[in-house]
Amino acid sequence: MSNVEFRRFDTPEAVSVAVASHVLDMVRRQPAATLGLATGKTFVPIYAELVRQVGAQGISFATATSFNLDEYVGLERDHPASFRAYMVEHLFRHIDMPAEQGRLPDVEGDLNAACERFEAAIAAQGGIDLQLLGIGQNGHIGFNEPGSAFDSRTRVVELAQSTIDANTSDFPDGQTPPTQAVTMGIGTILEAREIVLVAIGANKANALHEAFCKPASTACPASALNSHPKVTVFCDAAAAKMLPAEGPAHT
Ligand code: F6R
Repeated sequence: MSNVEFRRFDTPEAVSVAVASHVLDMVRRQPAATLGLATGKTFVPIYAELVRQVGAQGISFATATSFNLDEYVGLERDHPASFRAYMVEHLFRHIDMPAEQGRLPDVEGDLNAACERFEAAIAAQGGIDLQLLGIGQNGHIGFNEPGSAFDSRTRVVELAQSTIDANTSDFPDGQTPPTQAVTMGIGTILEAREIVLVAIGANKANALHEAFCKPASTACPASALNSHPKVTVFCDAAAAKMLPAEGPAHT
């Protein structure tokens, strides 16, 4: 039986406040926490709210560590649409976490060796305490596209055309995202002690329905989360519109 808990909010703003507060509760309780971080449009207002709360409450990330889910392969090092640039812009430059404690998958040189190093670094850190996830319209988590094995590890993947289309607006005019990325695997993600998945907007409603209202299947990568003991889905009313009104879902 799935233990997934749902927290529904009327507005995207309320989701951002709740997710930011949840992350900061963890950092307050456990200053040396290891966080798994996500990028994407969903997390822009969440990091803005987190930075606001950090400033207002004086919370330190000096002993925290983070590992991002994914990074594109093939962008030049300081490309503005890289996930490293995103993290610096939206979070890292605003908090006191030393730069070397904020890691993203390495996408230069021997990629298979880099993926193994990333997994080893997570393990050396004692694993991830709290993993943040968005969800793709096709149900992807990280860049684990439909068909990804539930025991997959950090690796090079080909992006689905729908993912490339959804992310093209993040790139300067005339440019499209690379076709490849490095992503934590679904198996890697499932080893996090706690997982928070965030879904905002009507275009995520079907993905939530496929993930949490149907039997788990590799056709919907997020459905792997049903087997995890501690997952909370934070969503707005638009994203929740295909979830049952009754049942395990509650605020
Ligand atoms: C980002 C990531 C992706 C996104 C997903 C949703 O690091 O791993 O799985 O979370 O594509 O993206 P947005 O939030 O742009 O809809």
